[in-house]
Formats: sequence, C-alpha cells, structure tokens
Amino acid sequence: MPKAGAKILVIDDHPEVLSLLRDLLAEEGQYAVLGASTQAEALELLQRHAFQLVISDLRLKNESGFDLLTRIRQDAPRVPVIIMTAYGSVDTAIEAIRLGAFDYIEKPFHSEKVLLTVARAVETWSLRAEVQHLRTNLAKESSYHRIIAQSAQMRGIFSLIERLKTSDVNVLVTGPSGTGKELIARAIHESSTRAARPFITLNCSAIPETLLEGELFGYKKGAFTDAKADKKGLLAEAEGGTFFMDEIADLPLSLQPKLLRAIQQREIRALGSNISQTINARLIAATNQDLKKMVSEKRFREDLFYRLNVVNLELPALQERREDIPLLVRHFLDKISARFQKPFKGLSDEAMHLLLSHSWPGNVRELENTMERAVALAEGEWVTPADLNLPEPFSGAKPFSGNRFDFLRENSQPMTLEEMERAYILWVLQEVQNNRSLAARLLGVDRKTLYNKLAEYKLSESA
Ligand SMILES: Nc1ncnc2c1ncn2[C@@H]1O[C@H](COP(=O)(O)OP(=O)(O)OP(=O)(O)O)[C@@H](O)[C@H]1O
Ligand SMILES: [Mg+2]
Repeated sequence: MPKAGAKILVIDDHPEVLSLLRDLLAEEGQYAVLGASTQAEALELLQRHAFQLVISDLRLKNESGFDLLTRIRQDAPRVPVIIMTAYGSVDTAIEAIRLGAFDYIEKPFHSEKVLLTVARAVETWSLRAEVQHLRTNLAKESSYHRIIAQSAQMRGIFSLIERLKTSDVNVLVTGPSGTGKELIARAIHESSTRAARPFITLNCSAIPETLLEGELFGYKKGAFTDAKADKKGLLAEAEGGTFFMDEIADLPLSLQPKLLRAIQQREIRALGSNISQTINARLIAATNQDLKKMVSEKRFREDLFYRLNVVNLELPALQERREDIPLLVRHFLDKISARFQKPFKGLSDEAMHLLLSHSWPGNVRELENTMERAVALAEGEWVTPADLNLPEPFSGAKPFSGNRFDFLRENSQPMTLEEMERAYILWVLQEVQNNRSLAARLLGVDRKTLYNKLAEYKLSESA
C-alpha cells in the first residue's frame, strides 16, 4: 500500500494533464502532488523537495524528456520515475525503461492503471528507503566478542553479560538451534575475570554415556578396561576458567547426581581413585530443549536444574530480531567472499527484501549457510534473489477458492492454446481480486509481460 503523504512531482507542459493527474491522485488522499511544466522548473522543485515519485511526460516543449529522465536518475537515483507516452509508442517506452524509468503509462490515461502503477512505484520507493536506512545502520555495526547484533534483545543480553563480569554464578544459555548459544558462552568467559584461564567445552550429546563420567571427572590407569593411563577430568582441566556443558539436556540421568555433588561440594574424585580433588570452574550450560518441561516430566533432575539455572540467558529466534539480519548478512558476505576470494558489492534490494522476510527456522546458522551458498552460486558482483534459493514471500495471497482447472470446465469444446492462456489469466485475476502484481507472480511472469498479455487478449478493461 502507498505510504501516507507520498509526495509526487508531475511534469507536463499541458496544464490540463497536470490538473487531471492532480485530481486523480489527490482523490486517493495519500498523495500530495506538485506540478512543473519545464525541465528547469522540475529540477528546481526536485532540489527543494523530497519526492517519492516523479511522473514525467517525454515530450516537453523543445526539450527532450530523455535528458530530463537522465538528470533525475543522476540527481535523485532512488526516486522512481514513471513516464507518460502517447498510446502505442512502445519503442519510446522501452527506451525510457532502458534509461532507468520505473514504468510507463499511456495517454489517454486509464485511471485504474495509473493508480496501480503509482502505488507500486511508491511502494518501491519506501522499500529502497528502508534498505538504505538499514545499510546506514550497518555503519554503526555492533559486535560483542564476535557476536554481531544490534537488536534491543541482543543488546540486553550483552549488558547482562557485562554485569556478570566479576561474578562466578552458573549460567544457563537457552534458545532455538542456531541462535548463537555457544558464542554467548564464549563471550561470558572472555568478558569475565577468568578470561586468561582455560575455556573447556564438553558436548554432552557427542559422547557415549559410558565414557561421559570419565571425561567429566577423570580416571586412574586401570579404572576400567580401556583406561591405559591416568586422565585428568575436564572439570579439573577448566581450573580457574570456565567449563561449558553444551547440550546439557542430553546429560544422562545416571550422571546428574554426580555432577550436582561436584558443583555443590566443589570437588571431584577421578574414577578408580579414592582421593578427592577440589575444583574451581565456572559452569555454563546450554540447551535448545525446554529443561523446565523435562524437569516436570522427570527427565531432568530438578535440583541440578536450579543449580545450573542461577542466571538464564534466553536467545531470541532470528525471526524476532530482524534488525540483526542486515548486519549478519554483511558480516557473512565479507567473511565468506574473502574465503572464496570472490569480491562482492553487496545484495540487490530484492535479495535483501527476501532475506528480511524469510522466517529463518534454522536461525543464524541457516542464514550463514544461505550466504555461503549464495556466494558460491552468484555470478555477478551483486547477490540476487535467485542466488539465495529461498522461497518467495507470499503476502496477501489467500488460498484459491476454486480448483485450478475450473476455468476449463465452463468450456467443453477444445480450446486453442491462446484461448486457454486467456481463460487462465482471467481466472487467476479473478481469484486474486485483480491484484495484478500478485497475478503476475502466480503466473510466473513479470508485470510487464502480464500487461502485454492483457492488452493482447483485450483483457485490460474486463479484468
Ligand atoms: N550473532 C551472531 N554473530 C555472528 N555469528 C553468529 C551469531 N549467532 C550465531 N552465529 C554463528 O551461527 C552458527 C551457529 O551458532 P551456535 O553454534 O552458537 O548456535 P547454537 O545456538 O549453539 O545452536 P545449536 O542449538 O544448534 O547448538 C555459528 O557458526 C556461529 O558462529
Ligand atoms: Mg550449540
């Protein structure tokens, strides 16, 4: 939908065209229209006002509209320009589009088409402005211990980590898969007074249950068949530093009381040894599971849960902090393109729009993989929507009421392919309440192709 208050410049040397368009657009209520009848006047207005759209005739008295178009594209590259052409002068229209015009409308005007084209152009402008705004924010790039984020939620987490600097409390990091829990655990360690001491990780789901105990607490030579030599436990390795237990939900119930005792008494005993050893490690645990629910289902010990969960850092899904997406995209694009030795200028506006509207079930990890694939696939200097290989966002599409082939039923006679195409286009248009952009997308053609077909099949008026 057009943004309220969009300001439009109309350039035409015929006063009646100016007033016609002004009336038509003003009636819509969301547009403020200014008019100019010469190139000089237009350029002056463009300097004084921030327009969201220019609609210009191609033939002004003694002046070429193409020159004006080129000037506007230079002076105000983000402002879409719609040009007006005489009915049937398709060549001129094509040339204008080649020079950067957004679209064209034919005189005499078809009001509905004018309004639709204007709405689309204004929408494009606001999209470009939004992307620009997001890009500017990139300059204020925020990164905290290699964690890229600027959203309020993530900044809240960073400031909590800052407050934990001098404390030794155990922290439970939770959040959906791929949200950066491991990075957060490292950040807690790196920002703490223990930073110079070891950061030791144990992934509870990666080690067989039978070996976990020995890994955690260590063992003496001969404690079990495979114990060929003494081994220090990981809890002891983390002396003075941080012990990170990833995927804590997978810690077997049989081991949970032993870990609890180690935390409470701050001591451990290696397997096969009868001497206890004191430990001094700060414990951070992480999981993407609902530990509280597991506690209520008796799949995780409640007492251990409370010991681990002194402070809880809950990482939001990427979908809930979309403002981090452009930063992350830029970060991954730079990192990956350096690795592939493939320099990139960036993403096309459409590609960024797609990234911003995707739901990211796999969160930052999925975004990283998507960018890696895009860099590998992209052929030009810009990453395009096709390189991203993401599904197109579908806004405003309601499920079709009819059957896909309903349009054929009314006609039992064989049809030519052309008749069939005409009938199918008509049916799709009806199904989407004549939303032509959506219809074009559903038909897999661009809007211009659809307009051409509508003209060809004389559907412009009826649909
Ligand atoms: N804010 C961020 N900035 C930069 N890189 C990030 C960020 N968040 C996540 N990543 C990257 O995304 C990937 C996944 O992050 P990480 O392994 O920390 O996720 P996780 O929450 O532990 O996921 P899982 O629950 O699946 O183990 C890693 O490559 C990590 O470096
Ligand atoms: Mg992880």
